[in-house]
This record gives sequence, C-alpha cells and structure tokens, in this order.
Amino acid sequence: MSLESFERYPLLFGPSPVHPLDRLSDRLGGARIWAKREDCNSGLAFGGNKTRKLEYLLPDALAQGADTLVSIGGVQSNHTRQVAAAAARAGLKAVLVQESWVDWPDPVADKVGNILLSRIMGADVRLVDAGFGIGFKDSWHQALEDVRAAGGTPYAIPAGASDHPLGGLGFAAWAHEVRRQERELGVFFDTVVVCSVTGSTHAGMIAGFAGQDRPRRVLGVDASAKIDETRAQVEKIARDTAGRIGLDRELRGDEITVLEGWAGDVYGIPVQSTLDAVRLTGRLEGVILDPVYEGKSMAGLIDLVRERDIPADSNVLFAHLGGQPALNAYSGVFP
Ligand SMILES: Cc1ncc(COP(=O)(O)O)c(C=O)c1O
Repeated sequence: MSLESFERYPLLFGPSPVHPLDRLSDRLGGARIWAKREDCNSGLAFGGNKTRKLEYLLPDALAQGADTLVSIGGVQSNHTRQVAAAAARAGLKAVLVQESWVDWPDPVADKVGNILLSRIMGADVRLVDAGFGIGFKDSWHQALEDVRAAGGTPYAIPAGASDHPLGGLGFAAWAHEVRRQERELGVFFDTVVVCSVTGSTHAGMIAGFAGQDRPRRVLGVDASAKIDETRAQVEKIARDTAGRIGLDRELRGDEITVLEGWAGDVYGIPVQSTLDAVRLTGRLEGVILDPVYEGKSMAGLIDLVRERDIPADSNVLFAHLGGQPALNAYSGVFP
C-alpha cells in the first residue's frame, strides 16, 4: 500500500508554512534555521501536530460508525484539545481523560489553556488522578465502557494518537509535503529537528523521508525524560509506518535518532535551557514556543547549531508542533 491509498479527512488549511528564522540564525552564527509551522496548520483550535495525525484516524472512526472520540492525556494535553476540535468539526462527541501527568503547582492549571478550550468545544472532560505514562489506563477503559453503557459507539485514540496503526501516517505525509516545499523554495533541509514524546510525529517523518532519494538527518529531541521508552516507541512506530506505506526496505538503525539532554528530569517541567530557548526565540523572532515540548526541542537545536554538530553550511528545519495554549498554566516561570 502507498500513503495515497489511505483516506484523509481534511482538517488542515493545506501545507503548513515554512519560513526562515534569520535573526535567530545570525545570533547563533552557524546553520540557517527555518521553521515549519504546525502551530498554524489549521483553523481548528490553534492547530498542532495531532490535527495532522487525526486527519488519518477520523475516516477510520467514521467507517466504524463511531459517535464519540475517546482519548487521554495530561491536564494540559494539546492532544486532547485537538481531539475535541476534530470531534466538533466532524459532528462527533469527545470524552477526554485528563491525568495528572505533571506535578505542577500553578493554581489554574486545570482551568486555563488547553483544558479551557476543550470545555468550550463541548468535550466531556474528566480529571483523574494518575501519573505520566503513554500506555493504556483503567480510567481510559472506563471512559470507553461509559460511552458503550450509554448506547454510544466509542472510537479509542491513545495518548498523542501514537500507539495506533494509523498514527504515523500524518507525519509521513508531512515528509512528502516538505519535499514539495523544498522544490518551491529552492532549498534542501539536510537536518530536521523535532520534539519527541509519544513518538508518532518523529516516527512518521522517519518513515516518510526514508522513501526519498536524498538522505537527511531527522533528529528527535526527547521531552519525556524517559529516553529508552521514547526511543523504543519511535522505532516501533517508524518500522510499522514504513511497512504500512510500502517502503521496500527495512529502516536502518542510524535512521532512528532520539537525543537526550534537554528534557530535564521530568516531563512537563521546564529547565533553564527550555526557558532560555523560549525567551530567545520570542525576543529575536516573535515566535512563541511552549515550556513542555517546543522549548525543549529548540534548546536542543540551539546547542547543536552552536556546537557545530549541525554544520554551519546546513539548512536545518525546526518542526514547530504547536503547544502554546499550555503557556497559560506556566505564567509563574516567566515573571
Ligand atoms: C506541542 C507538542 N510538541 C511535541 C509533541 C510530541 O509529539 P509526539 O507525542 O508525537 O512525540 C507534542 C505531543 O506530545 C505536542 O503537543
């Protein structure tokens, strides 16, 4: 099968914008940095990487006769907010299990940002007391059961839409989109930097780029602080997605690179390099990053460019995956 044979429910505006970050590049004095903007990829609730993945899950949900999308994430999950938006657009209901993934003291963390938006969009938001993890949980099974008991038909979407047979397709398509945009712009991005947590964003890119003739580095920056789990998840989804879209060879080990060093000790808590990256990108470019995901991957990119791990003659593409609504729960770290 090829990627084109999978049905896609349109949620995006079209290709997401790509633009250079020249003041940031000049400041770092090395590679030319560009951004591809999943944070403005759609008119749905501030977009983000999950919106792109959900384009491939929605047709499956509709084909199964589902009337309710059921998903799971942390209290400030960007993913569940995008599930709420996709459900609204498709005329479905959404039940969202919001776990306490982050031990974060902000008194309005369960009231503002993503969770506020999900409530506005009519989702049934359930706060439960369980820690960080990307696996399947009791609370989630309970939510599915509740929908069935009420006579509904649930469609289960795991955390980050990642551990799902169709989860990698959105970003395999992203890789093809990048290739088309490179031709239009007359540039080649020899390095891509992407934040990785539940894994299917990075994994989809790996699978998509692997089918192209010109090799490039696709560097995942772990933001989960559980590097072994992230690596295993990215590898599993990348191999599965590659097979699904008809790649005619096995992925090599060197195509699957997840880097550690910028997540800090815990998922969801920014460290100094995160805050420095958020401030630097905001002050030089007017581009807003969040303290949970993109601040960490940008911190990685900044160090790799400064240390010339990414050579000075490179064009490096920063995948901006969204996430800004969570900033509302982090005002305390930007006094
Ligand atoms: C803003 C943002 N960036 C990066 C990621 C990581 O993507 P993935 O979970 O597909 O690895 C997520 C979601 O987890 C996110 O919401």
